[in-house]
Amino acid sequence: MSYQVTLQPSGHQFNVEPGQTILEAALMAGFALPYGCRNGACGACKGKILAGRVDYGAAQEGTLTAEDRKQGLALFCCAMPESDLTLEVREVSAVKDIPVKTLPCRVERLEKLCHDVMGIWLKLPSSERLQFLPGQYIDFLLKDGRRRSLSLANAPEEDQLLELHMRYVPGGFFSEHVFHNMKVKDIMRINGPLGSFFLRESDKPAIFVAGGTGFAPIKSILTHAFHQGVKRQMVLYWGARALRDLYMPELPARWQQEHDNFTFIPVIQSPLPEETWHGRTGHVHEAVLADFSDLSGYQVYACGAPAMVAAARRDFVARGLPEAEFFSDSFDFQSGPAT
Ligand SMILES: Cc1cc2nc3c(=O)[nH]c(=O)nc-3n(C[C@H](O)[C@H](O)[C@H](O)COP(=O)(O)OP(=O)(O)OC[C@H]3O[C@@H](n4cnc5c(N)ncnc54)[C@H](O)[C@@H]3O)c2cc1C
Ligand code: FES
Repeated sequence: MSYQVTLQPSGHQFNVEPGQTILEAALMAGFALPYGCRNGACGACKGKILAGRVDYGAAQEGTLTAEDRKQGLALFCCAMPESDLTLEVREVSAVKDIPVKTLPCRVERLEKLCHDVMGIWLKLPSSERLQFLPGQYIDFLLKDGRRRSLSLANAPEEDQLLELHMRYVPGGFFSEHVFHNMKVKDIMRINGPLGSFFLRESDKPAIFVAGGTGFAPIKSILTHAFHQGVKRQMVLYWGARALRDLYMPELPARWQQEHDNFTFIPVIQSPLPEETWHGRTGHVHEAVLADFSDLSGYQVYACGAPAMVAAARRDFVARGLPEAEFFSDSFDFQSGPAT
C-alpha cells in the first residue's frame, strides 16, 4: 500500500510506494530533500516527523540516536512510512543549500559517443552520493593543482553513476589524458557540485541553446524536468559543427515524441560534403533569432563555447530578452597549473 507524505512548510505532497524510502520517493517526485550518503551514515537527510509513523530502516545508531528518535527525528534516506506522514524538512531550492565536497571516484565506464566526444561514467564510494541541481558541474582535481570542469549530464534522481560528456581538444592537458590514457577503474578526485546553471521556476517558455557538449547539463535539466512533469513550453536548439559531431541526437528526438511541450531543433553549422542534411544550418544562436522576432516573454538557457554564449547573450537581449532571464554556462578554458 502506498502512503502520502506532506512536506512542511512547503505543503508539497508525494506518494511513497512499498519498498521505497521517503528520500527515494521525494527525489522521484522531483522534490529535492537534502542528502549525502544515502545509506544512513552521514545524517544529512535527518528531519522531523510531525505526524505519522515510520520504519527507521537501516539508520545507523551513531547517526540516529535513541534521543533523536524520541524527538521524532528520522533519516529520510532509510525511513519507510507505516502511515501517511507530515514531515518538517528544508527543501533544497538553491545552490547555497548543497554542500560542495571533494571526493575520490572510480571511472566505471568510458564510451565514445561520437568521433570526438567521450562519455565518462564515475562511481563514488558506496558511502557517498553527490547531491546537485540539474545543470551543475564538477571539477576534476588534477596534477599540479590543475582543475578541469565537466558538466553533469545525468539527472540527480539517477545518481548511481555520474555521467559526463567530454569533447576532445587536440593537445589539451585533460583531453589527451581522457582520450588516450584514462582506463576503467582509474581513481580520480573531484570537487563539486559547482555552478548556478539550473532551471528557474517560471511559467515562461524556455529556450535551451546548446553548442556541442553544452548539451550535457541541458540533458540533466531536461531529464529532470520531464521527470517532474514540468508543463511549460521548452525548445532545444542544439548546434554542432558537422552532422558527425551531433552525438546521441536520438535522445532529444525521442523526448519530442514523448512530450507535447518539447521541441528539438538540431542546427548543423556546415555539413561535410559527404553528409546528407536537410535540417537547419548555420550558427545555433542565429537559428533562434530567425525563429523569434521578440524574446521579451522567454527565458533562455545557453551552454557551450564562450563565443557562442557571449553572442547569444548580446543578440537575444537586443531582441527584447530581459537580461535577468538569460542563464548560461560558458565552457571557458582553464589552462595552466594553479598558482
Ligand atoms: C563550467 C564549465 C563546464 C564545462 N563543462 C564541459 C563539459 O561538460 N564538456 C566538455 O567537453 N567541456 C567542458 N568544459 C571545458 C573543459 O573544462 C576544458 O576546458 C576542456 O575540456 C579543455 O581542457 P583540456 O585540459 O583538454 O585543454 P587545455 O589544456 O585547457 O587547453 C589546451 C589548448 O586548447 C585551447 N582550448 C581549450 N579548450 C578549448 C575548446 N573547447 N575549444 C578550442 N580550444 C580550446 C586552450 O586555449 C589551450 O590553448 C567546461 C568548462 C567550464 C568552465
Ligand atoms: S544519512 Fe546520509 S543521506 Fe541519509
